[in-house]
Amino acid sequence: MHVFIINGSPRIKSQSNTDKILEQFTKGMSENGTSFEQYEVSDRKQWDDMRKAFAENKNILIALPLYVECIPGLLIEFLETVEPKTDDSRIAFILQGGFAEGIQLRCGEEYLKILAGKLGCAYAGTLVKGNNFSIRFVEGAERDKITVPYGEMGREYAAKGDFSSEKCKKFTGPEVFPAPIRLLVGILFKTAAKTGLNKIAEGWGCTRPLDYKPYS
Ligand SMILES: Cc1cc2nc3c(=O)[nH]c(=O)nc-3n(C[C@H](O)[C@H](O)[C@H](O)COP(=O)(O)O)c2cc1C
Repeated sequence: MHVFIINGSPRIKSQSNTDKILEQFTKGMSENGTSFEQYEVSDRKQWDDMRKAFAENKNILIALPLYVECIPGLLIEFLETVEPKTDDSRIAFILQGGFAEGIQLRCGEEYLKILAGKLGCAYAGTLVKGNNFSIRFVEGAERDKITVPYGEMGREYAAKGDFSSEKCKKFTGPEVFPAPIRLLVGILFKTAAKTGLNKIAEGWGCTRPLDYKPYS
């Protein structure tokens, strides 16, 4: 099998968490004898080649992050420029995000099912996983802990050509955190995380708190 892959993040390759995820995913895929070609939607110079590859390939995989609960606009802008397929092509998605609960990626997943049809492709499933905020800020073992498990998903995808296996479904992790953890996270965001994020903003030259409300 040969797979045409798009990294749908608007972030450039070197800064993209999706790229680090794909690094491990494609490693696993290659171990199972699957070849691939990868493109970045963030690089408009690649768009002509991507349109051509979209037309020529029957196994398509789009990996994308969730931004404010939405599919990145730049990815949609690119997809609006491709000709919907009329053959037996299949499209699968890796949908990833920062927040850990699976539930907040489900709306995006439903949209991707519709999108597959609009692109004229059979839907080959979506690998859903959050908790990826920190990938680009950490290195070595810390990064591996988050990204290496995607290698096994790459092997699964290479073996089946879709994300329908139980292993892929379980990969999402908790759909919703238990109530005590939700309470703890809520308190953390109102206290320690708030202080930390304000400090980062200060370091970037912000002079007012992040919850400053000039119009209220
Ligand atoms: C402006 C902004 C909005 C975001 N919105 C969400 C969100 O709604 N849900 C989520 O799970 N993660 C959200 N994230 C986190 C990203 O999805 C996450 O960091 C992802 O790994 C980024 O991948 P990339 O670096 O390849 O773009 C957001 C990040 C930013 C900067």
